[in-house]
Amino acid sequence: MPVFHYLDGGADDELTLARNTDAFNEYELLPSQLSDVSHIDLKTTIFGQAIDWPVMISPTGASKLFHRDGETAVVRAAEKFGTIYSLSTVGTTTIEDVARAGNCPMMYQIYVFKDRGLTDNFIERCKAQNYAALCLTVDTPVAGNRERDHVYGLSAAPKFRWRSALSFVRHADWLARVILRKDLEMVNITSDDHAARRVKSGVMDYINSQLDRSLTWRDVEWLAGRWSGPLVIKGLLTVEDCRKAADSGATAVMLSNHGGRQLDSAPAPVDCISAVADALRDRLEIICDGGIRRGNHVVKALALGANVCSIGRGYLFGLAAGGQAGVERALTLLHSEVERTMALVGCNSVSKLDRSYVQKRH
Ligand SMILES: Cc1cc2nc3c(=O)[nH]c(=O)nc-3n(C[C@H](O)[C@H](O)[C@H](O)COP(=O)(O)O)c2cc1C
Repeated sequence: MPVFHYLDGGADDELTLARNTDAFNEYELLPSQLSDVSHIDLKTTIFGQAIDWPVMISPTGASKLFHRDGETAVVRAAEKFGTIYSLSTVGTTTIEDVARAGNCPMMYQIYVFKDRGLTDNFIERCKAQNYAALCLTVDTPVAGNRERDHVYGLSAAPKFRWRSALSFVRHADWLARVILRKDLEMVNITSDDHAARRVKSGVMDYINSQLDRSLTWRDVEWLAGRWSGPLVIKGLLTVEDCRKAADSGATAVMLSNHGGRQLDSAPAPVDCISAVADALRDRLEIICDGGIRRGNHVVKALALGANVCSIGRGYLFGLAAGGQAGVERALTLLHSEVERTMALVGCNSVSKLDRSYVQKRH
């Protein structure tokens, strides 16, 4: 139960969490009938990587919380589905092990830590492992207020709460794995010698102490210079910020509010696409991240101007339910929904999706 709430929950009143998905319902798809949909082409590219369909995997921390195979299970499913896997800085598998686990393009989600040496270490390791892109998450200057986690005791590492006691007892094997095998260790941090020496009171406390509230766009310029490959900024929602991202050296933006887990009352990413696309389409690629649960959500986002969509909970529920097979099942359902929606809307290639296929409800 605590793990479910960690996965499912959002910040404060969860207004943004709900809004992320609800907002899709305010768009209607306009079919263009008799358009020869005998073959639907879902292939596309993002930051120079060819992918089989316009959905990628968002970075999420601590995958081994949900299933013992953790990140590896998701990488393998991403490879089978011809898409990009994103590894979180607070993942439970190392940059190197993820690279070895599968043969799909990889993106590494990074934070610019106070200790720039740690950030540098990640960059060098990603270069060595041929990661296709780096993704800087900027919507977490402080942790969001996820009240469900406070109630159930899963804010950082699992904490004992009487309310969750029965659930922990029922899942003793899970608890043993987490405690005895240290499966929840943030291994990318602890595998850096320099950081490992400084982790004293726990990795999560160390990470929190390293989140730099004084970051500015100058730091993005620094990162772009250090990395020099495709750089994605994750957590932007306004045209102005996206413009600053482009000016600072980013090649793509992830319109995202962290799945409603950070600033509550932030707008839904889908509602931000058209303005950003109109202003910056020729300078940035646009990834819509948040609230995607149905194939028609993907088609709507692309028609509004996104290049691709990205999903978090959409694969995490599958991971929790059945490991790699569960992620594959979730991706199978979403893939078939995207394909079916394309046929029903009368568009045989994602490259042809545009505003003529979508309207805001009157
Ligand atoms: C359990 C969980 C853990 C997450 N961990 C991270 C993380 O470590 N870094 C990050 O940038 N985003 C993280 N996110 C946010 C996702 O990358 C993504 O923005 C979000 O899940 C998209 O919304 P969706 O779940 O509705 O698809 C996390 C989301 C969830 C649900």
